Amino acid sequence: MAIETIIFPDAEQAAQQVAKKIQQLIQRKPDAVLGLATGGTPLLLYRELIRMHAEEGLSFAQVRTFNLDEYEGLPPDHPESYWSFMQRNLFDHIDISPGNYHLPSGMLAADAVTEHCEAYENAIRAAGGIDFQILGIGRNGHIGFNEPGSTISSRTRRVTLCEVTRADAAPAFGSIEQVPTHAISMGCATILEAQEIVLLAFGEHKAEIVAQAVCGEVSENVTASYLQTHQHIHFYLDSAAARDLRDSM
Ligand code: PGA
Repeated sequence: MAIETIIFPDAEQAAQQVAKKIQQLIQRKPDAVLGLATGGTPLLLYRELIRMHAEEGLSFAQVRTFNLDEYEGLPPDHPESYWSFMQRNLFDHIDISPGNYHLPSGMLAADAVTEHCEAYENAIRAAGGIDFQILGIGRNGHIGFNEPGSTISSRTRRVTLCEVTRADAAPAFGSIEQVPTHAISMGCATILEAQEIVLLAFGEHKAEIVAQAVCGEVSENVTASYLQTHQHIHFYLDSAAARDLRDSM
């Protein structure tokens, strides 16, 4: 299977199209299960979903969501936790019910990690699986926090963050030393079980890794390349992130 790429003049138009897909899904299936991502990339998408809720009556009352990952060692109310990111950038502004959204916990005792990760996988299964998964891509090709070396059969687990990932997060934390060294992340197999996946990537700094994910070999060196094996995967790109694709296609 090839990854279908859809190239937009700018990130805003790409985000609007993805928001429309989510709107149509929720209209078709009001209790749809969404897989959600954090980071700079999905912010425009979340802003558009909030607008659709405010202005077009899009209701999330029955929607269930599962986030990809959470930093280890950050309490939910830490400003850089993905829990607080999601509240601030989406959940506080829509009518989702607090019992219906899920993130892995970053505050687990060492002996509780395995059980928590299994429970997360089971909760996704019990919800009927993820209908629509949103992804970003790291500069090292990670999806979720599945850093290079993560296998295609990996499941939700504790992961060690790469230096490049921690360096990219450093500005938000103030310094690289303050960026957590570990996280809990959905695995690649967890992600690949979603019915439909949309990966968003914007900006020239993503161009090289997007081209590797789309055109390179399927390899644990770029975990986004595993998406080539999925039946229903689209990359929504702005023209800057698509730069190296046009050269190679
Ligand atoms: P970004 O992160 O959206 O902040 O660029 C993407 C990612 O690391 O998955």
